[in-house]
Amino acid sequence: MSERTRRVIPFKAKVIEPIFLPPRDKREELITKAGLNVFRLESSDVYIDLLTDSGTGAISINQQSQMMLGDESYAGSRSFRKLEKQVREIFDLPLILPVHQGRAAERVLNSAMVKPHQLVPGNTHFDTTKEHIEYARGRCVDVTIEESSSSNLYHPFKGNLDVGKLADVVEKYGPKAIAYVLITITCNSGGGQPVSMANIKAVSELCRSQNIPIYFDAARFAENAYFIKAREDGFQDKSIREIVLEMFQYADGFTMSSKKDAISPMGGLLVLRDKELYEQLKPFTILFEGYITYGGMSGLMMESLAQGLQEVVDYTYLNYRIGQVADLGQMLKEKADIPIVEPVGGHAVFIDCRKFFPRVPEDQYPSQLLCVEIYKEGGIRVVEIGSCLAGRNPDTGENIRPNLDLCRLTVPRRVYTLEHFQYVSDVIAAVKKKHGQVDRGLKFEYESPGIRIFDSTFSYV
Ligand code: F0G
Repeated sequence: MSERTRRVIPFKAKVIEPIFLPPRDKREELITKAGLNVFRLESSDVYIDLLTDSGTGAISINQQSQMMLGDESYAGSRSFRKLEKQVREIFDLPLILPVHQGRAAERVLNSAMVKPHQLVPGNTHFDTTKEHIEYARGRCVDVTIEESSSSNLYHPFKGNLDVGKLADVVEKYGPKAIAYVLITITCNSGGGQPVSMANIKAVSELCRSQNIPIYFDAARFAENAYFIKAREDGFQDKSIREIVLEMFQYADGFTMSSKKDAISPMGGLLVLRDKELYEQLKPFTILFEGYITYGGMSGLMMESLAQGLQEVVDYTYLNYRIGQVADLGQMLKEKADIPIVEPVGGHAVFIDCRKFFPRVPEDQYPSQLLCVEIYKEGGIRVVEIGSCLAGRNPDTGENIRPNLDLCRLTVPRRVYTLEHFQYVSDVIAAVKKKHGQVDRGLKFEYESPGIRIFDSTFSYV
């Protein structure tokens, strides 16, 4: 038996959600009406939705039953205390501010941590993270290792920070110019790539020797821990929980979108070590989110989050989850030699669209074009993580050209089966066959302000 059929899948379906495939002519009409932007489609017009793994996971019977116990009290909620206990147990960090989702934690943290013109070096900051740092009038510096800019160069930890580059930034600007260093685990914008324990440790040592705070963006922390166990010497015999504890001892705190690796429909956390900073951030949490024992979450969401945190650190689950994403990547390669980012990341398969459409000019948004063609061909929704999402330089207004122009096939947790992915890979193979040699892409009809990918509209060049 192959790895694919032998892997243990630790659940079965009990409740299902019907999905429909609209006919081809209808799909063409719908995507045209949506301004060639998949964010503007209705979910009921999507057959297989690989837009995001955020809040789209299937909840378990245990999550559902715990949700019934949700305490909706404004102050001193029992559900918050349960969540607090769970977070302390898993991460061994003491101070917890609940927020409604990841970007809310970013807003609260950056309100106090970033002074105008300060820098936040890190490994390819996620778009909301970058926007929040810029909103606080700081600037991001990408110090990811060079290997991350190639889609087919193998490196087991392509999310790693280049410690030399980071040291140069500290030397050039001085430690006081650095608000904090941010490690995103796994690195979403770089292809869902993990960061090694050795790298986390080295970055932490550098930060601590210079009195620079170090934070994690921990949306996919458990997937990162799985890769450490699978790929880093000395961790094969450690449990996921042990690895997580070790990772977080190197951080001063973290923000977390709990819609990913807590398999919760909603929720977020801001977790800290420093009591003084905690006291400083409480008023921001109350102002932007809610009182400090719910912070924008309902009692039932806090229950689902607390339970999800326990379920996600299970090795059998992670082995199934990350194996499923790897299988999708393998199918795409085997079926039609689709140029994917390798090794495949934890939560998604990323297609290198400059290679998928070698004749489409880089400034005609090849990844956005692929999203449109995939929807037309098979009713599947995927997302652009490329030059459209990258936006414009806040100082010059110039379009940013990212290292890689990617289309992300994001896999929701515990939702789709191998049959769904066989269909997905057939559809993408057909798109390559029909359109791989086109020489024209898309242009903006309307470019929306802010994170422009959400609401902009396009037309064919
Ligand atoms: N950090 C990372 C690494 C993320 O991937 C996200 C969200 C956030 C922060 C913000 O969290 O959505 O809860 O406010 N990523 C989603 C995605 C939206 O599709 O990758 P949020």
